[in-house]
Amino acid sequence: MIRIKNQVQIQGIRKSCELLSELFEELGPAVVPGISTGELDALARKFIESRGGKPAFLGYYDYPASLCISINEEVIHGIPGSRTVKPGDLVGIDCGIDLGGYFSDAAMSVAVPPVSPETERLSRVTRECLSLAIAAVRPGARIHDISRAVFEHAKAAGYGVVRQYCGHGVGLAVHEDPQVPNYVGGGPNPRLAPGMVLAIEPMINAGGDAVVDLEDGWTVVTEDGSLSAHFEHTVLVTASGAEVLTRWDA
Ligand code: MF3
Ligand code: CO
Repeated sequence: MIRIKNQVQIQGIRKSCELLSELFEELGPAVVPGISTGELDALARKFIESRGGKPAFLGYYDYPASLCISINEEVIHGIPGSRTVKPGDLVGIDCGIDLGGYFSDAAMSVAVPPVSPETERLSRVTRECLSLAIAAVRPGARIHDISRAVFEHAKAAGYGVVRQYCGHGVGLAVHEDPQVPNYVGGGPNPRLAPGMVLAIEPMINAGGDAVVDLEDGWTVVTEDGSLSAHFEHTVLVTASGAEVLTRWDA
């Protein structure tokens, strides 16, 4: 069931997204060589809790941290710890906040200098996939219009598109209906309507589509070891189109 959010709920989700955006503004500059992923996680947790929120991923299916940090060939759900950021890394940071029962979700991949041309291109194309997906959002359009926008742009660039993990509804829980796949295929294809809130999140690989789950039970990596990028926004469907509720680069 897709929940249509009312004005009170939308205001709550907006605030949660605003807090998450402020956190991303703090995290971006903190991603420098030598910092450990555990330190970034601690920074995020402290920030969220100091502002009255809860890290939404912490404890979700027993996930042990506030951020997912996925570096280079890691696609999503990397667990923060003692690993340190190195020059040239592509550092994916994914976070969700529960602020008074209202949930936000966003992710960005931060390229640490010196940035290789390959990293720059994958990162740019993945951001473009997200922009094109958001441009497809309007009442009457369908979920697969979002999927097609991501898929076609990534494939035209010669990249792999992750199939096992999707975007999703969000706002009143970490994950809600509908699923928002990044590939064109079967599956439910509901129409978008004002008041829907979607987490749109292309996960794009420099190599093939295939991914593998690591033995830690969480970390997802590319099967061929190729670089992977991930950008995500929480997006509200409005009467005329889309309103992007999160930000990480404005
Ligand atoms: N960030 C993921 C998403 O966008 C959710 C992470 S769930 C966790 O759907 F348990 F790994 F935290
Ligand atoms: Co998400």
